[in-house]
Amino acid sequence: MTFGRGKVVLHNIGRLNFVECDFSQSQKLGKVLICQSWQLNYSMVIKLKGERMLEEPIAREAIKMNGIKVALVGIGNVASAFVQGLEYYKNVKSNSEELVGLGYADFAGFHVNDIKVVAAFDVVDSKVGLDLADAIFASPNNVMRFAEVPKTGVKVQKGELHDGVDDMLMSLVTISTKPEVDVVKALKEAGTEIVVNLLPGSAENASQFYAQAALDAGCAFINGTPIPIASDIEWSKKFEEKKIPLVGDDIQDQLGSTVLHRNILQLLVARGVRVDKSYQLDVGGGAESLDSHYRGRMRKRGVKSSAISQDLPYDAPLVAGSSDYVNFMDNSRDSYFYILGRQFGGAPIKIDIRMEVTDGPNAAPILFDAVRGTKLAIRRGVGGALESLSAYGFKMPPAPTTMYRAERWVEEFLLGKRQS
Ligand SMILES: NC(=O)c1ccc[n+]([C@@H]2O[C@H](COP(=O)([O-])OP(=O)(O)OC[C@H]3O[C@@H](n4cnc5c(N)ncnc54)[C@H](O)[C@@H]3O)[C@@H](O)[C@H]2O)c1
Repeated sequence: MTFGRGKVVLHNIGRLNFVECDFSQSQKLGKVLICQSWQLNYSMVIKLKGERMLEEPIAREAIKMNGIKVALVGIGNVASAFVQGLEYYKNVKSNSEELVGLGYADFAGFHVNDIKVVAAFDVVDSKVGLDLADAIFASPNNVMRFAEVPKTGVKVQKGELHDGVDDMLMSLVTISTKPEVDVVKALKEAGTEIVVNLLPGSAENASQFYAQAALDAGCAFINGTPIPIASDIEWSKKFEEKKIPLVGDDIQDQLGSTVLHRNILQLLVARGVRVDKSYQLDVGGGAESLDSHYRGRMRKRGVKSSAISQDLPYDAPLVAGSSDYVNFMDNSRDSYFYILGRQFGGAPIKIDIRMEVTDGPNAAPILFDAVRGTKLAIRRGVGGALESLSAYGFKMPPAPTTMYRAERWVEEFLLGKRQS
């Protein structure tokens, strides 16, 4: 048995390029060498020929520490896609056909399969008390069914209501009469490491309640909603003091209207087009569209408009937001883009695009990356708002930047060259 240090070239998957990583410990067992990189959280098994290493690792896997224990708050359409995705992608390999729709099979040293949901909270009658595998398909959820999820053994517990359900949403649900659980105690008992907040977008008090519960239970917090938590300096300080990671706010879909809009604007800027004005408006069904059309309309519009302005290096009238709720559209969303600009010699350019996507599945892959990156931060003892992960996967991060720079930040964070 031997121990040593060295360097291993990683051929990475996807957009981010990890060129090399140090392995801090290696252990020879028979004809294989097991290299552990705490920097990237990887272990690699490398076949030996005599005492020589073959260049390519024959297996590479995360150093598993009982998976990543996650609690989901709000078992709506995004939570449904998240849980279905864990089943659908559980055996996916990097660079394989089944990778479709997923950014990374392995991220921050963890496979999708390492993510375990250990607790779930909701307040509505149709979901509380059910196994998570059933609750994700309960009314009013209307996301597509793309995986058969076996029973999880995780029962949806009744959390605290606060402002989670307003009068409009009340037309779709009934609040459970079951007693509320002690959320902090429930998080601790489940051994939760990361709380993922998927409440309705305008549930401000409820989101703050769960952020505090995460802090009190010693869990990291990922805020999928547009309520300012990670981007709020006071919350960020509280998490920093307790050395607990905080990520958010407002998920930026894998390929949703914000990402497409930002990329088109970047392209136009790079090709010398002067963008004079642009709007992007969404129409959708589902409970969240109802919430963002009525209660959360102006907040959502502010978050989306300021996200796209990051990719334009000058001021121009930009508007992005939800414009209507159409109940029969279910979880699908139509986005309309309009961009007006000037090219060479002042020649006009006008772009009109309509995109149709399904909401829930668009948010889940980014959440998978956020959860795995957050776990890496926990392992490194990093607390407070994680700037890189937040800018990479969320529309209202604590440190807003261009999409390109956000990806470089994440790359540096994963390689240990950047703390947060
Ligand atoms: N692609 C996307 O869908 C996308 C993109 C960006 C951001 N988001 C954000 O993700 C969040 C979740 O979206 P969704 O489509 O799943 O919403 P949803 O309305 O389908 O689900 C919200 C869930 O929260 C539950 N809830 C309400 N109050 C609660 C409380 N006090 N405690 C526990 N549970 C409570 C509801 O019963 C419901 O099950 C929203 O804030 C949305 O803005 C989603």
